Amino acid sequence: MAGYRTLMEYEAAARDSLSEMAYAYYAGGARDEVTLRANRDAWSSIWLHYRTLVDVSQRTSQTTLLGIPVESPIICAPMAFHRLAHDAGEMATARGVSAAGSIFTLSTLSTVSIENVAESTSGPLWFQVYVYKDRAVTVDLVRRAESAGYQALVLTVDAAEIGTRERDHHARFRLPKGMRAANLERAGFDDLGSDAEGSALNTYVRELLDSSLTWADVDWLASLTTLPIIVKGIVRGDDACRAIDHGAQAVVVSNHGGRQLDTAVPTALALPSVVAAVRGRAEVYVDGGLRRGTDLIKALAMGANAVLIGRPILWGLAVSGEGGVHHVLELLRLELLEAMALCGAPTIDDVTLDLVGS
Ligand SMILES: Cc1cc2nc3c(=O)[nH]c(=O)nc-3n(C[C@H](O)[C@H](O)[C@H](O)COP(=O)(O)O)c2cc1C
Repeated sequence: MAGYRTLMEYEAAARDSLSEMAYAYYAGGARDEVTLRANRDAWSSIWLHYRTLVDVSQRTSQTTLLGIPVESPIICAPMAFHRLAHDAGEMATARGVSAAGSIFTLSTLSTVSIENVAESTSGPLWFQVYVYKDRAVTVDLVRRAESAGYQALVLTVDAAEIGTRERDHHARFRLPKGMRAANLERAGFDDLGSDAEGSALNTYVRELLDSSLTWADVDWLASLTTLPIIVKGIVRGDDACRAIDHGAQAVVVSNHGGRQLDTAVPTALALPSVVAAVRGRAEVYVDGGLRRGTDLIKALAMGANAVLIGRPILWGLAVSGEGGVHHVLELLRLELLEAMALCGAPTIDDVTLDLVGS
């Protein structure tokens, strides 16, 4: 992928190739976008206390996540509507992620179906679950993900309401003709091209998704399946403990990339309290504003088992399809390996809390 050397260069190129509406949807955050910006700034405000004179001639970023071996602890975050970036949509993203040796998470609101994505790649897949008011719809999604070979369910818990993304209202976000929420065809909930005022996504979420969810519903999901459950959207230690008590094997410290509650705590600041509360009883992942290898090494040093990457993967997809996705992930992995070398940490296990501070 000649030319692009950083994730920021990918974003600039993607901005030129996407429609204004698609760029606004991908890039935007809730309300004043305070958390969107703060997620990134918070990683930069942590300092690395690097070790010297450690033999780092042999380095590896390999690890395992919920028992799945990966080339690096860099996972693809669930994101809706990839066909806005590329015709092959989530199939291309999944193939790019698989080429990078990592895990692809498919959103409930994908523009390619659970089955078609599974057929397009041999790489490991997770499925992100939104709970519909009509529970039978969610049960059907879970069954389909199980039979298509997905290896975990990611339950997103920070979207009781959809956060107001003012860029989407101004751009009147909707899916263009021919694009649908592919998993919801059977249920008849696949149309996001409506003439509603403002964002069609807001109307969709308000009408169809269940805002009455409680911790009892995590038990309900766990009772439906033998797949591991990952609870995504946690920023507090007590909530992380509840997630584990209700059956989660992992939690994702996330504020939805600043797209839900504006002025929510940046994830770099929330991570320590979650790691402390979890005390190793579950895996902990984190996302939000991670754009450099040095951000990643800080997250791992603070106790995350892995990071999820969101928007930069869509920039890679928009610029060069599956090759662009692979390249974005490889750039991040190489930056992580450089940071590990310069921190005196040749393996992921050597990336420990003493490396970070103020
Ligand atoms: C365009 C877009 C769509 C998203 N859709 C979903 C979704 O369907 N389900 C979900 O759990 N999170 C969704 N997210 C949140 C991401 O999973 C992730 O938490 C966030 O993007 C991470 O922050 P980053 O983009 O700064 O890396 C979405 C994020 C973006 C940017």
